[in-house]
Amino acid sequence: MEHKKGREGFSSGIAAFFATLGSAVGLGNIWKFPYVVGANGGAAFLLVYFICIIFIGLPVMISEFYMGRKTRKNVMGALEILTPKRKWKSIGLISMLGSYFIVFFYSSVGGWVYSYVFKTIKGDFNQVTSQSAQEEFGRTIIGPISPIVWQFIVVTVVSLILVLGVKNGIERITKTLMPILFILILICDIKALTLPGVNESFKFLFKVDFSMLSGSAILMAMGLAFFKLSLGMGCMMTYGSYFTKKDNMMGTAAKVAISDTIVSLLVGIAVFSAVFSFGMKPSSGPGLLFMTVPMVFSKLPFGTLLLLAFFILASIAATTAMTSMCEVVIAYYSEQRGMSRKKAVFLNAVIILGIGIFATLSADDNSLLGKFTVFHMRVFDLFDFISSNILLPLGGILIAIFVGYVIPKCDIKKELSNEGNLKLDKLIDTYYIILRYVTPVLVFIVFLSSLGLM
Ligand code: TRP
Repeated sequence: MEHKKGREGFSSGIAAFFATLGSAVGLGNIWKFPYVVGANGGAAFLLVYFICIIFIGLPVMISEFYMGRKTRKNVMGALEILTPKRKWKSIGLISMLGSYFIVFFYSSVGGWVYSYVFKTIKGDFNQVTSQSAQEEFGRTIIGPISPIVWQFIVVTVVSLILVLGVKNGIERITKTLMPILFILILICDIKALTLPGVNESFKFLFKVDFSMLSGSAILMAMGLAFFKLSLGMGCMMTYGSYFTKKDNMMGTAAKVAISDTIVSLLVGIAVFSAVFSFGMKPSSGPGLLFMTVPMVFSKLPFGTLLLLAFFILASIAATTAMTSMCEVVIAYYSEQRGMSRKKAVFLNAVIILGIGIFATLSADDNSLLGKFTVFHMRVFDLFDFISSNILLPLGGILIAIFVGYVIPKCDIKKELSNEGNLKLDKLIDTYYIILRYVTPVLVFIVFLSSLGLM
Protein backbone atom coordinates (compact mmCIF):
# COMPACT_ATOMS: atom_id res chain seq x y z
CA MET A 1 0.00 0.00 0.00
CA GLU A 2 3.03 2.26 -0.35
CA HIS A 3 1.50 4.51 -2.95
CA LYS A 4 -1.44 5.31 -0.72
CA LYS A 5 0.66 6.51 2.14
CA GLY A 6 0.06 10.19 1.59
CA ARG A 7 -3.72 10.07 1.50
CA GLU A 8 -5.49 11.69 4.39
CA GLY A 9 -8.30 10.07 6.34
CA PHE A 10 -10.32 10.27 9.55
CA SER A 11 -8.38 9.20 12.60
CA SER A 12 -11.00 7.07 14.36
CA GLY A 13 -14.45 5.57 14.24
CA ILE A 14 -15.81 8.44 16.33
CA ALA A 15 -14.37 10.97 13.92
CA ALA A 16 -15.95 9.10 11.01
CA PHE A 17 -19.29 9.10 12.83
CA PHE A 18 -19.27 12.83 13.54
CA ALA A 19 -18.19 13.74 10.01
CA THR A 20 -20.91 11.57 8.49
CA LEU A 21 -23.50 12.89 10.89
CA GLY A 22 -22.35 16.41 10.00
CA SER A 23 -23.24 15.64 6.41
CA ALA A 24 -26.61 14.13 7.24
CA VAL A 25 -27.75 16.82 9.65
CA GLY A 26 -28.61 19.83 7.56
CA LEU A 27 -31.41 22.16 6.69
CA GLY A 28 -33.54 19.09 6.00
CA ASN A 29 -33.66 18.38 9.75
CA ILE A 30 -34.76 21.88 10.56
CA TRP A 31 -37.30 22.96 8.04
CA LYS A 32 -38.57 19.77 6.53
CA PHE A 33 -38.45 16.61 8.54
CA PRO A 34 -40.25 17.69 11.75
CA TYR A 35 -43.14 19.18 9.84
CA VAL A 36 -43.48 16.24 7.47
CA VAL A 37 -43.64 13.89 10.45
CA GLY A 38 -46.35 15.93 12.16
CA ALA A 39 -48.43 16.51 9.07
CA ASN A 40 -48.45 12.86 8.00
CA GLY A 41 -49.52 10.87 11.00
CA GLY A 42 -46.73 11.34 13.55
CA ALA A 43 -45.46 8.03 14.86
CA ALA A 44 -47.17 6.19 12.02
CA PHE A 45 -45.06 8.22 9.57
CA LEU A 46 -41.94 7.59 11.66
CA LEU A 47 -42.58 3.88 11.38
CA VAL A 48 -42.77 4.17 7.59
CA TYR A 49 -39.66 6.35 7.60
CA PHE A 50 -37.74 3.69 9.51
CA ILE A 51 -38.86 1.06 7.05
CA CYS A 52 -37.55 3.31 4.26
CA ILE A 53 -34.29 3.72 6.14
CA ILE A 54 -33.94 -0.06 6.34
CA PHE A 55 -34.85 -0.76 2.73
CA ILE A 56 -33.43 2.30 0.98
CA GLY A 57 -31.30 4.49 3.24
CA LEU A 58 -29.01 2.00 4.91
CA PRO A 59 -28.40 -0.26 1.88
CA VAL A 60 -27.37 2.70 -0.29
CA MET A 61 -25.29 4.24 2.48
CA ILE A 62 -23.47 0.99 3.19
CA SER A 63 -22.87 0.52 -0.54
CA GLU A 64 -21.38 4.00 -0.83
CA PHE A 65 -19.18 3.35 2.21
CA TYR A 66 -18.08 0.09 0.63
CA MET A 67 -17.12 1.74 -2.67
CA GLY A 68 -15.23 4.50 -0.92
CA ARG A 69 -13.33 2.56 1.70
CA LYS A 70 -12.49 -0.38 -0.55
CA THR A 71 -10.81 1.90 -3.09
CA ARG A 72 -9.74 4.84 -0.92
CA LYS A 73 -10.44 7.13 -3.81
CA ASN A 74 -12.69 9.97 -4.91
CA VAL A 75 -15.85 9.03 -6.80
CA MET A 76 -14.22 8.88 -10.24
CA GLY A 77 -11.11 7.11 -9.01
CA ALA A 78 -13.22 4.61 -7.08
CA LEU A 79 -15.12 3.55 -10.19
CA GLU A 80 -11.92 3.26 -12.20
CA ILE A 81 -10.62 0.76 -9.66
CA LEU A 82 -13.87 -1.15 -9.22
CA THR A 83 -14.68 -1.76 -12.89
CA PRO A 84 -13.02 -1.50 -16.28
CA LYS A 85 -16.37 -0.67 -17.87
CA ARG A 86 -16.55 3.00 -18.71
CA LYS A 87 -20.32 3.21 -18.52
CA TRP A 88 -20.28 2.94 -14.73
CA LYS A 89 -18.27 6.13 -14.60
CA SER A 90 -21.62 7.82 -15.04
CA ILE A 91 -22.07 7.27 -11.29
CA GLY A 92 -19.07 9.51 -10.67
CA LEU A 93 -20.31 12.11 -13.12
CA ILE A 94 -23.80 12.15 -11.64
CA SER A 95 -22.30 12.44 -8.17
CA MET A 96 -20.25 15.48 -9.01
CA LEU A 97 -22.94 17.21 -11.03
CA GLY A 98 -25.47 16.47 -8.29
CA SER A 99 -23.23 17.86 -5.59
CA TYR A 100 -22.74 21.04 -7.56
CA PHE A 101 -26.39 21.61 -8.36
CA ILE A 102 -27.38 21.10 -4.76
CA VAL A 103 -24.68 23.38 -3.39
CA PHE A 104 -25.58 26.13 -5.87
CA PHE A 105 -28.89 26.77 -4.15
CA TYR A 106 -28.10 25.32 -0.71
CA SER A 107 -25.36 27.95 -0.29
CA SER A 108 -27.93 30.65 -0.97
CA VAL A 109 -30.15 29.35 1.82
CA GLY A 110 -27.06 28.95 4.00
CA GLY A 111 -26.45 32.65 3.45
CA TRP A 112 -29.95 33.56 4.63
CA VAL A 113 -29.40 31.46 7.78
CA TYR A 114 -26.07 33.17 8.51
CA SER A 115 -27.64 36.58 7.98
CA TYR A 116 -30.34 35.72 10.53
CA VAL A 117 -27.67 35.11 13.17
CA PHE A 118 -26.41 38.60 12.47
CA LYS A 119 -29.89 40.12 12.44
CA THR A 120 -30.74 38.46 15.75
CA ILE A 121 -27.63 39.94 17.34
CA LYS A 122 -28.52 43.35 15.92
CA GLY A 123 -31.91 43.05 17.62
CA ASP A 124 -33.94 43.10 14.42
CA PHE A 125 -36.46 40.64 15.84
CA ASN A 126 -37.12 42.36 19.14
CA GLN A 127 -40.54 43.71 18.24
CA VAL A 128 -41.32 41.41 15.40
CA THR A 129 -44.86 40.99 14.09
CA SER A 130 -46.11 38.68 11.38
CA GLN A 131 -46.05 41.60 8.95
CA SER A 132 -42.49 42.66 9.81
CA ALA A 133 -41.25 39.07 9.80
CA GLN A 134 -42.52 38.71 6.28
CA GLU A 135 -40.96 41.99 5.16
CA GLU A 136 -37.65 41.09 6.76
CA PHE A 137 -37.58 37.75 4.98
CA GLY A 138 -38.47 39.40 1.67
CA ARG A 139 -35.62 41.88 2.07
CA THR A 140 -33.24 39.08 3.00
CA ILE A 141 -33.82 36.98 -0.06
CA ILE A 142 -34.54 39.65 -2.67
CA GLY A 143 -31.52 41.82 -1.90
CA PRO A 144 -29.97 41.86 -4.45
CA ILE A 145 -26.59 42.70 -2.93
CA SER A 146 -26.91 41.34 0.61
CA PRO A 147 -27.88 37.72 -0.22
CA ILE A 148 -24.92 37.56 -2.60
CA VAL A 149 -22.60 38.86 0.09
CA TRP A 150 -23.93 36.30 2.58
CA GLN A 151 -23.58 33.50 0.05
CA PHE A 152 -20.00 34.62 -0.44
CA ILE A 153 -19.43 34.48 3.32
CA VAL A 154 -20.88 30.97 3.60
CA VAL A 155 -18.80 29.67 0.72
CA THR A 156 -15.72 31.28 2.26
CA VAL A 157 -16.34 29.58 5.62
CA VAL A 158 -16.87 26.20 3.97
CA SER A 159 -13.75 26.73 1.85
CA LEU A 160 -11.66 27.56 4.91
CA ILE A 161 -12.74 24.30 6.54
CA LEU A 162 -11.99 22.37 3.36
CA VAL A 163 -8.59 23.91 2.75
CA LEU A 164 -7.43 22.73 6.17
CA GLY A 165 -7.82 19.18 4.91
CA VAL A 166 -9.67 16.06 5.93
CA LYS A 167 -8.20 15.65 9.42
CA ASN A 168 -7.53 19.22 10.43
CA GLY A 169 -10.53 20.60 8.62
CA ILE A 170 -13.52 18.29 8.25
CA GLU A 171 -12.71 15.99 11.18
CA ARG A 172 -11.79 18.70 13.67
CA ILE A 173 -14.68 20.97 12.76
CA THR A 174 -17.37 18.30 12.83
CA LYS A 175 -16.01 16.85 16.09
CA THR A 176 -16.26 20.29 17.67
CA LEU A 177 -19.44 21.56 16.08
CA MET A 178 -21.70 18.50 16.25
CA PRO A 179 -21.63 18.37 20.08
CA ILE A 180 -22.22 22.15 20.18
CA LEU A 181 -25.15 21.75 17.83
CA PHE A 182 -26.56 19.09 20.10
CA ILE A 183 -26.18 21.28 23.21
CA LEU A 184 -27.88 24.20 21.45
CA ILE A 185 -30.80 21.95 20.52
CA LEU A 186 -31.06 20.78 24.12
CA ILE A 187 -31.13 24.39 25.35
CA CYS A 188 -34.03 25.10 22.99
CA ASP A 189 -35.76 21.91 24.13
CA ILE A 190 -35.36 22.62 27.84
CA LYS A 191 -37.02 25.97 27.25
CA ALA A 192 -39.72 24.26 25.19
CA LEU A 193 -40.57 21.93 28.07
CA THR A 194 -41.69 24.94 30.12
CA LEU A 195 -44.10 26.16 27.46
CA PRO A 196 -47.85 25.53 27.42
CA GLY A 197 -47.65 24.19 23.86
CA VAL A 198 -45.37 21.32 24.72
CA ASN A 199 -48.12 18.72 25.04
CA GLU A 200 -49.60 19.67 21.74
CA SER A 201 -46.21 19.45 20.05
CA PHE A 202 -45.70 15.94 21.40
CA LYS A 203 -49.16 15.02 20.17
CA PHE A 204 -48.37 16.52 16.77
CA LEU A 205 -45.10 14.62 16.43
CA PHE A 206 -45.82 11.33 18.14
CA LYS A 207 -49.52 10.57 17.82
CA VAL A 208 -50.14 7.33 15.99
CA ASP A 209 -52.50 8.11 13.17
CA PHE A 210 -52.43 5.68 10.29
CA SER A 211 -55.37 7.43 8.63
CA MET A 212 -53.12 10.40 7.75
CA LEU A 213 -50.65 8.14 6.04
CA SER A 214 -51.40 8.67 2.36
CA GLY A 215 -49.56 7.29 -0.64
CA SER A 216 -47.85 10.61 -1.12
CA ALA A 217 -46.70 10.50 2.50
CA ILE A 218 -45.02 7.18 1.84
CA LEU A 219 -43.31 8.56 -1.26
CA MET A 220 -42.20 11.52 0.80
CA ALA A 221 -40.71 9.20 3.43
CA MET A 222 -38.73 7.41 0.72
CA GLY A 223 -37.42 10.67 -0.72
CA LEU A 224 -36.54 11.95 2.73
CA ALA A 225 -34.61 8.80 3.60
CA PHE A 226 -32.43 9.70 0.64
CA PHE A 227 -31.97 13.40 1.09
CA LYS A 228 -31.61 13.25 4.85
CA LEU A 229 -28.77 10.75 4.69
CA SER A 230 -26.94 12.59 1.89
CA LEU A 231 -27.18 9.64 -0.48
CA GLY A 232 -26.87 9.22 -4.22
CA MET A 233 -24.29 11.94 -4.77
CA GLY A 234 -21.03 10.39 -3.70
CA CYS A 235 -20.94 12.21 -0.36
CA MET A 236 -20.95 8.99 1.60
CA MET A 237 -18.59 7.37 -0.88
CA THR A 238 -16.10 10.17 -0.44
CA TYR A 239 -16.37 10.18 3.36
CA GLY A 240 -16.24 6.37 3.34
CA SER A 241 -12.91 6.59 1.55
CA TYR A 242 -11.55 8.36 4.64
CA PHE A 243 -12.71 5.68 7.12
CA THR A 244 -10.04 3.52 8.77
CA LYS A 245 -9.93 -0.15 7.88
CA LYS A 246 -11.05 -0.91 11.44
CA ASP A 247 -14.33 1.00 11.29
CA ASN A 248 -17.55 -0.94 11.41
CA MET A 249 -19.27 0.62 8.40
CA MET A 250 -22.64 -1.03 8.94
CA GLY A 251 -22.63 0.12 12.56
CA THR A 252 -21.69 3.67 11.60
CA ALA A 253 -24.47 3.78 9.01
CA ALA A 254 -27.08 2.68 11.57
CA LYS A 255 -25.84 5.10 14.22
CA VAL A 256 -25.89 8.01 11.79
CA ALA A 257 -29.43 7.24 10.60
CA ILE A 258 -30.72 7.02 14.17
CA SER A 259 -28.92 10.12 15.44
CA ASP A 260 -30.05 12.15 12.44
CA THR A 261 -33.67 11.26 13.18
CA ILE A 262 -33.27 12.13 16.86
CA VAL A 263 -31.85 15.53 15.93
CA SER A 264 -34.86 16.21 13.70
CA LEU A 265 -37.32 15.23 16.41
CA LEU A 266 -35.60 17.34 19.06
CA VAL A 267 -35.71 20.33 16.72
CA GLY A 268 -39.37 19.59 16.06
CA ILE A 269 -40.23 19.54 19.78
CA ALA A 270 -38.55 22.90 20.36
CA VAL A 271 -40.03 24.63 17.35
CA PHE A 272 -43.57 23.28 17.52
CA SER A 273 -43.89 23.76 21.29
CA ALA A 274 -43.31 27.46 20.70
CA VAL A 275 -45.57 27.51 17.65
CA PHE A 276 -48.47 25.87 19.50
CA SER A 277 -47.95 28.05 22.58
CA PHE A 278 -48.90 31.04 20.47
CA GLY A 279 -51.84 29.28 18.92
CA MET A 280 -50.23 29.23 15.49
CA LYS A 281 -50.45 26.59 12.83
CA PRO A 282 -47.42 24.37 12.17
CA SER A 283 -45.79 24.82 8.78
CA SER A 284 -42.58 23.92 6.96
CA GLY A 285 -39.98 25.30 4.59
CA PRO A 286 -38.52 28.80 4.51
CA GLY A 287 -41.67 30.21 6.08
CA LEU A 288 -41.21 28.14 9.23
CA LEU A 289 -37.51 28.81 9.56
CA PHE A 290 -37.38 32.48 8.62
CA MET A 291 -40.76 33.85 9.69
CA THR A 292 -42.53 31.68 12.26
CA VAL A 293 -39.47 30.84 14.35
CA PRO A 294 -38.29 34.47 14.78
CA MET A 295 -41.84 35.45 15.65
CA VAL A 296 -42.55 32.85 18.30
CA PHE A 297 -39.08 32.59 19.80
CA SER A 298 -38.64 36.33 20.19
CA LYS A 299 -41.83 36.55 22.26
CA LEU A 300 -40.46 34.18 24.90
CA PRO A 301 -38.43 35.26 27.92
CA PHE A 302 -34.76 35.28 26.87
CA GLY A 303 -36.16 35.10 23.35
CA THR A 304 -33.26 36.81 21.64
CA LEU A 305 -30.77 34.40 23.19
CA LEU A 306 -32.95 31.47 22.24
CA LEU A 307 -33.29 32.71 18.71
CA LEU A 308 -29.55 33.18 18.54
CA ALA A 309 -28.99 29.60 19.75
CA PHE A 310 -31.44 28.40 17.13
CA PHE A 311 -29.90 30.21 14.16
CA ILE A 312 -26.39 29.27 15.23
CA LEU A 313 -27.41 25.64 15.28
CA ALA A 314 -29.05 26.00 11.88
CA SER A 315 -25.85 27.62 10.57
CA ILE A 316 -23.76 24.76 11.91
CA ALA A 317 -26.06 22.22 10.27
CA ALA A 318 -25.95 24.02 6.92
CA THR A 319 -22.17 24.46 7.04
CA THR A 320 -21.22 20.86 7.78
CA ALA A 321 -23.71 19.56 5.21
CA MET A 322 -22.28 21.88 2.55
CA THR A 323 -18.74 20.90 3.45
CA SER A 324 -19.60 17.30 2.59
CA MET A 325 -21.09 18.24 -0.78
CA CYS A 326 -17.97 20.19 -1.72
CA GLU A 327 -15.57 17.47 -0.59
CA VAL A 328 -16.92 15.20 -3.34
CA VAL A 329 -15.51 17.45 -6.06
CA ILE A 330 -12.45 18.61 -4.14
CA ALA A 331 -11.31 15.02 -3.71
CA TYR A 332 -11.79 14.60 -7.46
CA TYR A 333 -9.84 17.73 -8.42
CA SER A 334 -6.96 16.94 -6.15
CA GLU A 335 -6.66 13.21 -6.85
CA GLN A 336 -7.70 12.83 -10.46
CA ARG A 337 -6.56 16.19 -11.73
CA GLY A 338 -3.48 16.50 -9.58
CA MET A 339 -4.38 19.91 -8.21
CA SER A 340 -3.14 21.02 -4.83
CA ARG A 341 -5.89 21.07 -2.23
CA LYS A 342 -5.68 24.83 -2.04
CA LYS A 343 -6.16 25.25 -5.74
CA ALA A 344 -9.00 22.71 -5.78
CA VAL A 345 -10.84 24.53 -3.01
CA PHE A 346 -10.37 27.86 -4.72
CA LEU A 347 -11.62 26.58 -8.07
CA ASN A 348 -14.60 24.99 -6.35
CA ALA A 349 -15.48 28.26 -4.60
CA VAL A 350 -15.26 30.20 -7.85
CA ILE A 351 -17.59 27.73 -9.59
CA ILE A 352 -20.12 27.78 -6.74
CA LEU A 353 -20.19 31.54 -6.52
CA GLY A 354 -20.13 32.03 -10.29
CA ILE A 355 -23.19 29.84 -10.89
CA GLY A 356 -24.78 29.94 -7.43
CA ILE A 357 -25.35 33.67 -7.84
CA PHE A 358 -28.05 32.84 -10.39
CA ALA A 359 -29.86 30.78 -7.76
CA THR A 360 -29.54 33.60 -5.25
CA LEU A 361 -30.90 36.15 -7.73
CA SER A 362 -33.90 34.00 -8.55
CA ALA A 363 -35.04 32.79 -5.14
CA ASP A 364 -38.25 34.81 -5.18
CA ASP A 365 -40.74 36.11 -7.71
CA ASN A 366 -39.58 39.63 -6.96
CA SER A 367 -35.88 38.83 -7.23
CA LEU A 368 -33.79 40.39 -9.99
CA LEU A 369 -34.07 37.23 -12.12
CA GLY A 370 -37.37 36.18 -10.58
CA LYS A 371 -39.30 36.49 -13.83
CA PHE A 372 -36.86 34.42 -15.83
CA THR A 373 -37.94 30.80 -15.98
CA VAL A 374 -36.77 27.58 -17.60
CA PHE A 375 -39.39 24.82 -17.88
CA HIS A 376 -41.64 27.07 -15.77
CA MET A 377 -39.14 27.08 -12.95
CA ARG A 378 -36.99 29.88 -11.63
CA VAL A 379 -33.27 29.05 -11.73
CA PHE A 380 -33.28 28.47 -7.96
CA ASP A 381 -36.05 25.87 -8.24
CA LEU A 382 -34.55 24.40 -11.38
CA PHE A 383 -31.29 23.65 -9.58
CA ASP A 384 -33.26 22.07 -6.74
CA PHE A 385 -35.30 20.01 -9.19
CA ILE A 386 -32.30 18.80 -11.20
CA SER A 387 -30.41 17.73 -8.09
CA SER A 388 -33.08 16.45 -5.69
CA ASN A 389 -35.53 15.01 -8.20
CA ILE A 390 -33.32 13.74 -11.00
CA LEU A 391 -29.65 13.27 -10.15
CA LEU A 392 -30.11 12.06 -6.58
CA PRO A 393 -32.45 9.12 -7.23
CA LEU A 394 -30.64 8.32 -10.47
CA GLY A 395 -27.31 8.16 -8.64
CA GLY A 396 -28.89 6.05 -5.91
CA ILE A 397 -30.39 3.51 -8.25
CA LEU A 398 -27.13 3.12 -10.18
CA ILE A 399 -25.15 2.67 -6.96
CA ALA A 400 -27.57 0.00 -5.72
CA ILE A 401 -27.43 -1.88 -9.03
CA PHE A 402 -23.69 -1.51 -9.37
CA VAL A 403 -22.85 -2.85 -5.92
CA GLY A 404 -25.68 -5.40 -5.96
CA TYR A 405 -24.99 -6.90 -9.40
CA VAL A 406 -21.50 -5.97 -10.60
CA ILE A 407 -19.35 -6.36 -7.50
CA PRO A 408 -18.75 -9.98 -6.42
CA LYS A 409 -20.45 -10.76 -3.14
CA CYS A 410 -17.29 -12.14 -1.55
CA ASP A 411 -15.60 -8.77 -2.02
CA ILE A 412 -18.42 -6.98 -0.29
CA LYS A 413 -18.39 -9.48 2.54
CA LYS A 414 -14.67 -9.12 3.02
CA GLU A 415 -14.80 -5.34 3.13
CA LEU A 416 -17.87 -4.97 5.35
CA SER A 417 -16.59 -7.54 7.87
CA ASN A 418 -13.10 -6.00 7.88
CA GLU A 419 -11.58 -9.19 6.48
CA GLY A 420 -13.65 -11.36 8.79
CA ASN A 421 -12.82 -9.50 12.00
CA LEU A 422 -16.41 -8.43 12.52
CA LYS A 423 -18.97 -11.17 12.87
CA LEU A 424 -21.65 -9.71 10.68
CA ASP A 425 -22.43 -12.61 8.36
CA LYS A 426 -26.20 -12.63 8.80
CA LEU A 427 -26.48 -8.85 8.59
CA ILE A 428 -24.38 -8.74 5.45
CA ASP A 429 -26.51 -11.44 3.82
CA THR A 430 -29.66 -9.51 4.69
CA TYR A 431 -28.19 -6.27 3.38
CA TYR A 432 -27.19 -7.97 0.13
CA ILE A 433 -30.62 -9.42 -0.52
CA ILE A 434 -32.33 -6.10 0.19
CA LEU A 435 -29.83 -4.24 -1.97
CA ARG A 436 -30.42 -6.52 -4.95
CA TYR A 437 -34.13 -7.08 -4.83
CA VAL A 438 -35.79 -4.29 -2.88
CA THR A 439 -33.77 -1.09 -2.95
CA PRO A 440 -33.59 -0.56 -6.74
CA VAL A 441 -37.33 -1.09 -7.09
CA LEU A 442 -38.16 1.35 -4.31
CA VAL A 443 -35.73 3.98 -5.55
CA PHE A 444 -37.19 3.63 -9.02
CA ILE A 445 -40.62 4.40 -7.58
CA VAL A 446 -39.21 7.47 -5.82
CA PHE A 447 -37.66 8.54 -9.12
CA LEU A 448 -40.91 8.24 -11.05
CA SER A 449 -42.83 10.05 -8.39
CA SER A 450 -40.33 12.88 -8.13
CA LEU A 451 -40.60 13.41 -11.87
CA GLY A 452 -44.33 13.64 -11.41
CA LEU A 453 -44.94 10.40 -13.29
CA MET A 454 -46.68 8.68 -10.42
N1 TRP B 1 -28.47 15.70 4.38
C1 TRP B 1 -28.41 17.13 4.27
C2 TRP B 1 -29.67 17.77 4.87
O1 TRP B 1 -30.44 17.17 5.51
C3 TRP B 1 -28.25 17.59 2.86
C4 TRP B 1 -27.17 16.95 2.11
C5 TRP B 1 -25.82 16.99 2.34
C6 TRP B 1 -27.32 16.13 0.97
N2 TRP B 1 -25.15 16.26 1.41
C7 TRP B 1 -26.04 15.73 0.56
C8 TRP B 1 -28.44 15.69 0.29
C9 TRP B 1 -25.88 14.86 -0.54
C10 TRP B 1 -28.28 14.85 -0.80
C11 TRP B 1 -27.01 14.44 -1.19
O2 TRP B 1 -29.88 18.94 4.72
